[in-house]
Amino acid sequence: RSIKSLTTSPSSHILRRGYASEAAPDRKVAVLGAAGGIGQPLALLMKLNPLVSSLALYDIANTPGVAADVSHINTRSEVSGYSGEAELGKALEGADVVIIPAGVPRKPGMTRDDLFNINAGIVKGLCQAIAKYCPQALVNMISNPVNSTVPIAAEVFKKAGTYDPKRLFGVTTLDVVRAKTFYAGKAKVPVAEVNVPVVGGHAGITILPLFSQATPKANLSDAEITALTKRTQDGGTEVVEAKAGKGSATLSMAYAGAIFADACLKGLNGAPDVVECSYVQSTITELPFFASKVRLGKNGVEEVLGLGPLSDYEKEGLEKLKPQLQSSIEKGIKFANQ
Ligand code: NAD
Ligand code: LMR
Repeated sequence: RSIKSLTTSPSSHILRRGYASEAAPDRKVAVLGAAGGIGQPLALLMKLNPLVSSLALYDIANTPGVAADVSHINTRSEVSGYSGEAELGKALEGADVVIIPAGVPRKPGMTRDDLFNINAGIVKGLCQAIAKYCPQALVNMISNPVNSTVPIAAEVFKKAGTYDPKRLFGVTTLDVVRAKTFYAGKAKVPVAEVNVPVVGGHAGITILPLFSQATPKANLSDAEITALTKRTQDGGTEVVEAKAGKGSATLSMAYAGAIFADACLKGLNGAPDVVECSYVQSTITELPFFASKVRLGKNGVEEVLGLGPLSDYEKEGLEKLKPQLQSSIEKGIKFANQ
């Protein structure tokens, strides 16, 4: 890869501080579903990221307008728009990171699993193209139900002979973003200083925030921890209901997706100590896929980190989530192999 000097804007200095030399390698990021509710603000945020040199925006329709719009922003990356399946290969070729927010969102009364019938097929098709055109890319799966779409992706890649568990990620960053926000509000601590791991999966009770490990420490009651846990688990539903039929979280998801993609890019570029929670192939429980803290590096997952000490409440939550997560994983694997 060629090395290109970054522009010396103050923001790029801040983002690079601490790990990079004065140059950042060329990195191509592709967003699949780029004209959607998440895709558009995510395209904007990735255009603002100085680690990106090429930004490919793909959707089945409406991408030229989004790409033209975003391309006028005076930051490092070159933007290109791709519309329709015939252009998918060009969008993917040479991609280092592929972010997938393609698929239908929930309406009130639906579970994420209710999206399976439509989104499973969308994800399968996109992953077949990734296996063909950019098998080395890190894949950031946003499309729901994440608990199943990640196993689907793994099976598609296995069939194609390109599967590398280090390169496949379910994006659960929004759960962490929510847990941090809700904890800071309740604990009355500065939100920017808050850290809370969230493990398990990305649906209802499979989302398990570990508030016993939250920092800065606060003396919250059991009832407060229970309420915070429930609010984090139901955060997506809170937004779906507030949007009243107009979709699910898009802006907070774009923010979370941009944070996670940035972490992937930093890892690829050799930054030390890049740790984010993500739903990945895992051996830290008996489940084949599980979200936990993951150290990111030049090959994607460098290390899947353990759960650390859990409170009794969290231990109980962990046991309760396992059957549901296991069945979502099996559903995805079965779909991909039928
Ligand atoms: P949206 O309907 O606004 O946008 C989806 C986009 O995907 C549309 O532009 C559509 O044209 C596109 N699309 C459909 N089929 C495609 C294909 N085959 N190839 C490329 N693009 C295709 O929906 P949204 O609000 O952006 O949500 C997208 C997905 O993200 C949903 O499944 C939603 O449940 C999920 N989501 C996940 C999280 C998370 O935390 N992981 C958070 C929020 C939403
Ligand atoms: C979320 O957590 O906001 C997403 O998974 C979207 C949803 O359907 O809740």
